[in-house]
Amino acid sequence: MLRLTGVSAGYGKTPVLHEVSLSVQRGGVTAVLGANGAGKTTTIRTICGLLPATGEIAIAGKNIVGQTSDRIARLGVAHVPDNRGTFIDLTVRENLLLGAHTRRDGEVEGDIERFLELFPRLKSRIHQQAGNLSGGEQQMLALSRALMLRPQILLLDEPSFGLAPKVVAEIFELLRKVKEEDGLSVLLVEQNARMALMLSDKAYVLESGKVVLSGDSRDLASDDAIRKSYLGY
Ligand SMILES: Nc1ncnc2c1ncn2[C@@H]1O[C@H](COP(=O)(O)OP(=O)(O)OP(=O)(O)O)[C@@H](O)[C@H]1O
Ligand SMILES: [Mg+2]
Repeated sequence: MLRLTGVSAGYGKTPVLHEVSLSVQRGGVTAVLGANGAGKTTTIRTICGLLPATGEIAIAGKNIVGQTSDRIARLGVAHVPDNRGTFIDLTVRENLLLGAHTRRDGEVEGDIERFLELFPRLKSRIHQQAGNLSGGEQQMLALSRALMLRPQILLLDEPSFGLAPKVVAEIFELLRKVKEEDGLSVLLVEQNARMALMLSDKAYVLESGKVVLSGDSRDLASDDAIRKSYLGY
């Protein structure tokens, strides 16, 4: 569904990603792991068309390098950025409507209902300003907002960041559910290797903008040496 081949990218003259190749199967979850500064966020921004890149980024076989971020979103790529991308002065409902701004079908209200059922903690706060939500609720809103696009591919930048383990587990469980119901393909960027390997079927480890390890998530998680030297748990 998504394939990066030899992708290099950076900020201005500063290169960050060096010939990164990775893929996400249709309906699969791929994890990208790595320490602070490894290039995880840069990988996601590059896929979204926010940074110039060389190499090939293909969605369902079509190269999207050079396309605008708006065009890439319209191809069905939704992004939950590391700052969650929530408009804190807008209400929960207004944030959800913004997530659907590219849609022209008549099912937007139905989808809002669906996410409020899935995320009951948002339901009672539908008319509250998003800035007043707890961290976990904001992450649920960010996820719902991205899903309002009805994406084919969901790019998630550290959904566990700053959240208590119990809330992280809740969010990963919701992700699993939505992914299965919608047949979504997910690229999950995480420092929380343990949780990410539980949800994903394939994983890549980035170091200084390069893929240094990749494999089946289950194999990586069950290899003590790899866990200790690359995954830090
Ligand atoms: N806007 C920017 N301008 C210049 N350099 C940047 C910019 N954003 C990130 N970088 C650099 O790119 C490298 C990779 O950063 P990136 O944010 O992709 O890492 P990350 O793996 O997401 O880290 P973290 O786990 O801390 O979020 C770092 O060396 C960082 O300093
Ligand atoms: Mg990051």
